[in-house]
Amino acid sequence: MPKKRILSGMRPTGKLHIGHFVGALENWVKLQNEYESFHLIADYHVLTTSLDTSDVYQNSLDMLIDWLACGLDPSKSPMFRQSQIKQHAELNLIFSMLITVNRLERNPTLKDQIRDLNIEHVIYGHLGYPVLQTADILLYKGNAVPVGDDQVPHIEISREIARRFNNQYSEVFPEPEALLTKFSRLSGLDGNAKMSKSLNNTILLSDDSETVKSRMKKAAIDPNKQRKGDQGNPEICVVFSYHKKFNTEEIFDIEAGCRSGALGCFDCKMNCAKKISIFLEPIMEKRRYYESNIDEVKDILCDGEQQGRKVAEETMNEVHNKMKLG
Ligand code: TRP
Repeated sequence: MPKKRILSGMRPTGKLHIGHFVGALENWVKLQNEYESFHLIADYHVLTTSLDTSDVYQNSLDMLIDWLACGLDPSKSPMFRQSQIKQHAELNLIFSMLITVNRLERNPTLKDQIRDLNIEHVIYGHLGYPVLQTADILLYKGNAVPVGDDQVPHIEISREIARRFNNQYSEVFPEPEALLTKFSRLSGLDGNAKMSKSLNNTILLSDDSETVKSRMKKAAIDPNKQRKGDQGNPEICVVFSYHKKFNTEEIFDIEAGCRSGALGCFDCKMNCAKKISIFLEPIMEKRRYYESNIDEVKDILCDGEQQGRKVAEETMNEVHNKMKLG
């Protein structure tokens, strides 16, 4: 039995944070051994919310370095940019005929973005974003897509488009499934449910230990725990939620110390910062390697794009045949 395929993707927003690791990368690294994986840098998708493309290339390289530093292995899975494989645009065009405007307008993720970003007039390409995402996935016949829960409505659209194409022209595409990560979200330092660069509540995978410490100082804690001795509620403390992920060995002691008051928040934060830095150290070391060997990173990208293009060409030949377009 051939391995099933995964298509995973991220927008290149620059250096990644620990939320990306917990919510996606950790899972991708594991999955690359079980599935045939393809990793997409969704650089065209950036245009849906910003037309300024001046940083997109650098951001793509920075993101790729983080992927590599976290353990994605280019000898197992190609990594490539959407913009460098023309078939993404071609399949997007065909798929755009297989879904109604009305269906796309009902996409809850779009509605959330319109609200959060205060968008007054929706751009055509933004409305069509899930169609391009579908082309990303189905160009590689992805069976599974590891995503966060906000992306599930997009995968549902992908399934509908795959079904529609297969019914109309004969079976070409699998109906992809979302693979949700168990521990899928890390809160931001400020307590916001989402860690995000635009909210300035992140710890980056590339932050050194001094930076992690100073970032941690402003982490949101139980407001009723003002000083050591006060009893706290770890369930509403961001630092405790990080301990759960990065310091599992001490978790019971920390919980007890917080509740009893014996553990002060400053010490608890510094301990957490230390554990995060220990976790980050091997990632930083690999990052330093790739930063000083940037040509190797570019070669990895070039190689991934060649591999991706080959699969994309095969799929498009099949699509053209089935559509009797020659
Ligand atoms: N829409 C995804 C996001 O905003 C990025 C993305 C683009 C993607 N194409 C994809 C994710 C294909 C998975 C599969 O995070």
